[in-house]
Amino acid sequence: MIEFILNNKTIKTKLPPGMTVLDFIRYEQNLKGTKIGCREGDCGACTILVGEIKNNQLNYRSMTSCLMPLGNVQGKHIVSVEGINMDELNPIQQAIVNEGGTQCGFCTVGFVMSLVGFCLTEKETNYENAIAAMDGNICRCTGYKSLERAAALITDQLNSRKENDTINWLIEHKFIPPYFSEIPKRLSAFVKVEDNSSQPTKIKLGGGTDLYVQKHDSMVHAEIDFIFDNDQLKGIAQKDNLIYIGASSTVEDLRSSKLMNKHFPLLQKHLKLISSTPIRNMATLAGNFVNASPIGDMTIFFLALNAGLILDDNGIKRNVLLKDFYKGYKQIDKSAEEIIESIYIEVPKPNSLFNFEKISKRTHLDIASVNSAMSIEVEGTKIKSIHIAVGGVFAFPLYLNKTVEHLKGKEISTAPILSANEILQSEIAPISDARGYADYKRLLARQLFFAHFVELLPEKINVDEFFQNEIA
Ligand code: FES
Ligand code: FES
Repeated sequence: MIEFILNNKTIKTKLPPGMTVLDFIRYEQNLKGTKIGCREGDCGACTILVGEIKNNQLNYRSMTSCLMPLGNVQGKHIVSVEGINMDELNPIQQAIVNEGGTQCGFCTVGFVMSLVGFCLTEKETNYENAIAAMDGNICRCTGYKSLERAAALITDQLNSRKENDTINWLIEHKFIPPYFSEIPKRLSAFVKVEDNSSQPTKIKLGGGTDLYVQKHDSMVHAEIDFIFDNDQLKGIAQKDNLIYIGASSTVEDLRSSKLMNKHFPLLQKHLKLISSTPIRNMATLAGNFVNASPIGDMTIFFLALNAGLILDDNGIKRNVLLKDFYKGYKQIDKSAEEIIESIYIEVPKPNSLFNFEKISKRTHLDIASVNSAMSIEVEGTKIKSIHIAVGGVFAFPLYLNKTVEHLKGKEISTAPILSANEILQSEIAPISDARGYADYKRLLARQLFFAHFVELLPEKINVDEFFQNEIA
């Protein structure tokens, strides 16, 4: 039995937990406001809000209901557009109307829900965050300018909001209906369900952002081990000189972590390149690693931090470095019984620097053609230690072993970096596909490799010399 609140209604259902929330809302509850577009997390037409109590506080996040199974909503508050509708349009809906932000209307509900999510978030109220909240929504009619104006209007209205009183203020100003004030009490009454029936035959499911794209139909009746809300797999904490990250942490958990932001000053900029707000709210780090996509953004990110994984087989644990985890195309060093329990990285040293770069056809919600990350520890004028990873140029996410060995202990200057590029080119083996010809990917790998040094150590290299060179 799965129990949760849908808008203002308590739901108890025995329907298959693998059914998507989108199908449940539309076909079991006959709430047709939430639209079906791509069913792949790419358009935002199905955006809903998911509220849950964490650290005694009710938090709402936008998610795509097409990729979310019912099994992941136990004990939560699900809000579809019907759940914010009142007798008259709320200020968000009105702002979109006033600015001409809707034409055919197919995308509009998704935009409204993303903006409601922005109003409910604990993030700072400013125009940039309002625009960022809509980064998972696509509109093919309006050209976006009208939606941007609507976002500006809403941001202006929110500026009079008092801190720490978000929900009451939004109710008072008719952004959301009054029943929201009772949600914390109603959610607290749910009993947390512990599922200890982990079996190797069950599919282990995190946020669903990959499996529901790959095999949507078969997931509905699959035997699933829901690990997204497993507390043992959550949390980000430092112990001695290591940072441990629970395997079910989402990209957004990472992005909002004070610890990670303290040690990675460019984290906000880097993670903004990963997918979109709703997908970052759902996608787990372990999911990205086990997918073994040659182009997985978070895999490349953590490869360049020389991350380690702790794998758990019913209490028997072992460690493996992420760079040794990949054995071939979609082949990983993990048995069916094992799950990734956590990821660990070294706390960056004061003289360490980190950079992540991604080339894709559009800024948000796109798969990279090539991506790359580098961490470097500098000692005086030399490279003390270095880790570099590149994606999209090999059968699996590639740690550049030979290039790294070549660069260790070298002077930070243009010549060794240029010669390292020749080694890099010998390590990669890109193929031509929909994301570009092999030669183009070689060029991108080179440019991103140089870009790390341009970004992190511009005073130590001659940029012009980099770009005079042809590909090795
Ligand atoms: Fe397109 Fe869900 S239907 S994101
Ligand atoms: Fe038509 Fe946005 S109004 S897709």
